[in-house]
Amino acid sequence: MIAIYPGTFDPATNGHMDMIERCAKKFDTLYVAILNNPNKKCLFTLEERLEMLTDLTRHYPNVKIASFDGLLIDYAKSINADVIVRGLRAVSDYEYEMQMSLCNQSLYPELETLFLVAKTRFSYLSSSIVKEVASLGGNLENFVPDLVREELLKKYNK
Ligand code: PNS
Repeated sequence: MIAIYPGTFDPATNGHMDMIERCAKKFDTLYVAILNNPNKKCLFTLEERLEMLTDLTRHYPNVKIASFDGLLIDYAKSINADVIVRGLRAVSDYEYEMQMSLCNQSLYPELETLFLVAKTRFSYLSSSIVKEVASLGGNLENFVPDLVREELLKKYNK
C-alpha cells in the first residue's frame, strides 16, 4: 500500500519523525510530501526542508521525500497513493483535519484519509511552537532532531 504523509514541515519536529517511523512500518511505500506554497511565509525554503527530511529519513528504504504544489489529491493520483496519513494531537486538530479529509473525500472518494493519534509526549509539539522557542533561545533538545536544531540555531544566529 502506498501512503502520503503531507505537510508543511517548517521544520520537521520529533512528532513528525515519530509519525514517519510508525508509517514506514505499516506501509510498503511512504511519500513524505512537502507542500510548496509560495503564499505561505516559511522559515525554511522548500529546498532546505527537502534536504533536512531526506537526511533524516535516509535509513528508511521505503520512505521517499517529495514536494508538491496544487491539490494534494492530484499529487496523490500521480503517485498512485492509496491513503493520506495525518496525525491528530488534540481535539483542537480535529475540526481542521475533518474539514480537509471531507474535502479530499469529495474531490477523490477512492483516496482514504487515515489518522494516527500522536504519542502523548509529542502532543503539544508543533513547528510553530518550536520556532518560537528557537527564536527566544530555548532548549530544543526534546523538540526536534539534532540536525533540525542546528539549522534552527543558524537561522536565529544563536
Ligand atoms: O502541515 P500542514 O500545514 O498542516 O499541512 C497542510 C497540508 C499541506 C496537508 C494541506 O494544506 C494541503 O493538503 N494543501 C494542498 C492544497 C489542497 O489540496 N487543498 C485542499 C484540501 S481540501
